[in-house]
Amino acid sequence: GDPRLEAISAAIRVVPNFPKKGIMFQDITTLLLDHKAFKHTIDIFVDRYKDMHISVVAGVEARGFMFGPSIALAIGAKFIPLRKPGKLPGKVISESYELEYGHDRLEMHVGAVEPRERVIIIDDLVATGGTLSAAISLMESQGAEVVECACVIGLPEVKGQHKLKGKPLYVLVEPSGLDELC
Ligand code: PRP
Ligand code: MG
Repeated sequence: GDPRLEAISAAIRVVPNFPKKGIMFQDITTLLLDHKAFKHTIDIFVDRYKDMHISVVAGVEARGFMFGPSIALAIGAKFIPLRKPGKLPGKVISESYELEYGHDRLEMHVGAVEPRERVIIIDDLVATGGTLSAAISLMESQGAEVVECACVIGLPEVKGQHKLKGKPLYVLVEPSGLDELC
């Protein structure tokens, strides 16, 4: 395969039992410390999306913010932050999603995206797909077209795909032998 993907995989630190017992935490902060691997990550996304008439890259707080803006700048798109509740000062729309215990919410400024704009949604990792589904709903509620969801890391069997409202999912690396990711 692409040797860049091996470099990316190798740069992601796996931390067992964080934030709680049984979770193999996929730590992308070590990817950000590795300039070559970080650049490969951005380059692969940019090559994929640069000629697809994408006008919006939407990133999910917090770890989607670490990849989205670089991609947006390189492909000539705007960046829209999808934020956790109560952080945006303007008029917002909200979408709730399920967590293992309870639920959380993503918010977006009204007017950030316009109807029919072509959007890519970026995050570091997809596990259940709940977060990305909320992001898709926010965009579609404004009449935007979600072309694809893109993550650095995906579950091997991508349980998330079922929940992504039929949208394509593109992941760079799929760790194996893990029961649960975070
Ligand atoms: C993690 C990860 C993804 C999401 C994936 O974010 O960064 O956004 O979980 O899980 P899912 O596919 O089951 O929805 P988290 O909410 O833990 O916080 P952070 O990005 O703010 O660190
Ligand atoms: Mg996150």
